Amino acid sequence: MKFGYFDDANKEYVITTPKTPLPWINYLGCNEFFSLISNTQGGYTFYKDAKLLRLTRYRYNNVPTDMGGKYFYIKDGETVWNPGWQPTQTELDSYECRHGIGYSRFTGKKNGLKASALAFVPMNDNCEVTQLTLTNESNEAKSVKVFSYVEWCLWNADDDMKNFQRLLSCGEMEVEGGTIYHKTEYRERRNHYAVYSVNAPIAGFDTSRDEFLGAYRSAANPEVVEKGQCTNSMASGWSPIACQQLNIELAPGESKDFVFVLGYVENPQDEKWEDAAMQVINKKRAHEMLARYATVADVQKALTNLKEYWAELLSKYQVNSKDEKVNRMVNVWNQYQCMVTFNMSRSASYYESGIGRGMGFRDSCQDLLGFVHLIPDRARERIIDIASTQFEDGSAYHQYQPLTKKGNSDIGSGFNDDPLWLIAGTSAYVRETGDTSILDVMTPFDNDASKATPLMNHLKRSFDYIATHKGPHDLPLIGRADWNDCLNLNCFSEHPGESFQTFGPSEGPVAESVFIAGMFVKYGEEYAQLCELKGDAAEAARARAEVEKMYAAILKDGWDGEWFVRAYDAFSHKVGSKECEEGQIFIEPQGFCVLAGVGVKEGLAEKALNSVKEKLDTKYGVMILQPAYTKYHLELGEVSSYPPGYKENAGIFCHNNPWVSIAETVIGRGDRAFEIYKKTCPAYIEDISEIHRTEPYVYSQMVAGADAPRHGEAKNSWLTGTAAWTFVNVSQYILGVYPTHTGLQVNPCVPSGFGDFDLVRTYRGVNYHVSVKNPNGVQKGVSKIIVDGKELVGTSIIPYEADKKDVNVEVVMG
Ligand code: GLC
Ligand code: GLC
Repeated sequence: MKFGYFDDANKEYVITTPKTPLPWINYLGCNEFFSLISNTQGGYTFYKDAKLLRLTRYRYNNVPTDMGGKYFYIKDGETVWNPGWQPTQTELDSYECRHGIGYSRFTGKKNGLKASALAFVPMNDNCEVTQLTLTNESNEAKSVKVFSYVEWCLWNADDDMKNFQRLLSCGEMEVEGGTIYHKTEYRERRNHYAVYSVNAPIAGFDTSRDEFLGAYRSAANPEVVEKGQCTNSMASGWSPIACQQLNIELAPGESKDFVFVLGYVENPQDEKWEDAAMQVINKKRAHEMLARYATVADVQKALTNLKEYWAELLSKYQVNSKDEKVNRMVNVWNQYQCMVTFNMSRSASYYESGIGRGMGFRDSCQDLLGFVHLIPDRARERIIDIASTQFEDGSAYHQYQPLTKKGNSDIGSGFNDDPLWLIAGTSAYVRETGDTSILDVMTPFDNDASKATPLMNHLKRSFDYIATHKGPHDLPLIGRADWNDCLNLNCFSEHPGESFQTFGPSEGPVAESVFIAGMFVKYGEEYAQLCELKGDAAEAARARAEVEKMYAAILKDGWDGEWFVRAYDAFSHKVGSKECEEGQIFIEPQGFCVLAGVGVKEGLAEKALNSVKEKLDTKYGVMILQPAYTKYHLELGEVSSYPPGYKENAGIFCHNNPWVSIAETVIGRGDRAFEIYKKTCPAYIEDISEIHRTEPYVYSQMVAGADAPRHGEAKNSWLTGTAAWTFVNVSQYILGVYPTHTGLQVNPCVPSGFGDFDLVRTYRGVNYHVSVKNPNGVQKGVSKIIVDGKELVGTSIIPYEADKKDVNVEVVMG
């Protein structure tokens, strides 16, 4: 069942009922000011950091779900309704939510009145603008009242949920005409306030939640709205809100627009006050901001700017194939989601509360793979930020805080895959841009500038950390965990509440990871290539020799007969082997070893991938392991803490499905690679939205596996490495346009019936217009490449020529 449809021409997903299985959200903001906004106008807003500078309040555990947002109540006679349906849930005569790229538009109709709210965060400004348009579609004059409503968060979202004895006495407001200022804590150490305004004379306001709602009521039935008149309340302590009342007359057919602005303003310390004695805040900067959106024309211009920004970004990779679902995912939604993961990492979604995790070291490095072609400059900065948190011995803080950019000592280090992801991200950046100067950037260890060395040296330490931390089988020590956070082989936690991530030693001498070994083969080679670029042939040779050793160790002790072993536990017992009672086969080493090329020439790769198909495949995607753990295994940790079929315990962990799909392209099986791609790809499962439940335009972290009662149900949408990896898979391996250090390589691996396709790829400023013909319907293989009319001989890499603006490439598969 569907709850909407894709409007490809407008790059929008159109939701046609408010009663989606779960809130279906969008993100507004590209720089420092962000809002999450659901299809019923729920959500919240923050500046830079979802924990520390939260503007509006949101209750994650609320019932009914998703109450809390930026609402407009319309009182038309005795009927009170909202254009986005919530919070009154008054049945609408029609409803539509259009989630676009960086904006959302809600249109509701009731009793001949149409209300449309368009919300977005303008480029380079710290505010969210909503244009509310009311149209009288009836034959009679209408006299209606509109009440806006936002509830302020008292800045620190964590404290805001806990510290009631203090915060219920802190709230302070100012009102100036129709503009409401939230200035809690401004009197002391804060130099910032929030503002909510409307560009029209108001008929009243409220800033006290209790006055607005009335005792024992909720946002579903505010007393003020019921009575039809604001009380002009000034919040003092308790819970401050902003509500403006507009009384509006509409002739038949008449339309009126109102512009609401929710903004964040910072003042320099010496310009804090307009009147310090009276504690009146300096509103100059707020006035300037509001003036920028005083009219509908201003708003439309800002929206046009935003759309142009996105069109230009997305233009860097555009495919035109016979498969409209591939086109819409590649050209719009997958790249969009990659940008959202760039902005949010794993901090703020409807599953990540915004007060928990900072930026993950491995997560952020992998996210880079998906957006480096879109915003290379910001990717460069991100790489240096991440590398600056690395320890001198090459290991890494598992997380860092976006506001301070410092490593988070609560979680510490010991996730032994982390160092290698830094090589992955840096290599992707250098291949994309050709900018080797990044390798010379003096980069601190542990944010200590006195310990700065060139970035290249960080990569060497990453590489060496793995090469020098090996266990009894010459495989890498796993530490607290590798990519699978829940495979905690040194943890042995027996008491509730202990964190699997930090309990126990950070590393034991025995537990080893075959997955990290596969990574080492892949990123060890990429490290060697970077060494060559720097002219260090000796270091490249040394690296390749280490990679050879690792390759041999995988074949010797990492192969189980039909598939790759997952790990060795603290007793040197195999994990992910046919010898195990449960958890006999894991997806990660199959995908990663094969995509690294391990076992390809020996014929093991094909065997491993056949085992994946036989043992792990479901119609909703490939499961992470089988058989599921049915009881808690002390020696394995969190992986066995989940009920069978969920998350890391035999869920379909979408993130590593593309690894297997890429692995299939490595051995040339385009049909199977694409089949795997489609199973978790949102556009292909749109029509089972009642089962899948999360948004049909973005990836989720996890889909329940075959063992789960709710098989096929997704959770944790938006902030997942799945976005980056599926984009890498479809753009670089299936469609096959891969950036190398010397030029673009074109080597597609597609299903036999995929047909011809064209694409445009901007690489180092040059637009490559690639046209792929597949006359015999082969799955892989290129028989001819013609570049600007000349045949390319002996290579599939189109050499990069900086002086060209456009390059025409014809590729014939066969
Ligand atoms: C979560 C984490 C990621 C980890 C994955 C598997 O998505 O963000 O870092 O690799 O789970 O455990
Ligand atoms: C839990 C989750 C895992 C995630 C980790 C992040 O272990 O199961 O997916 O990576 O938390 O802290």
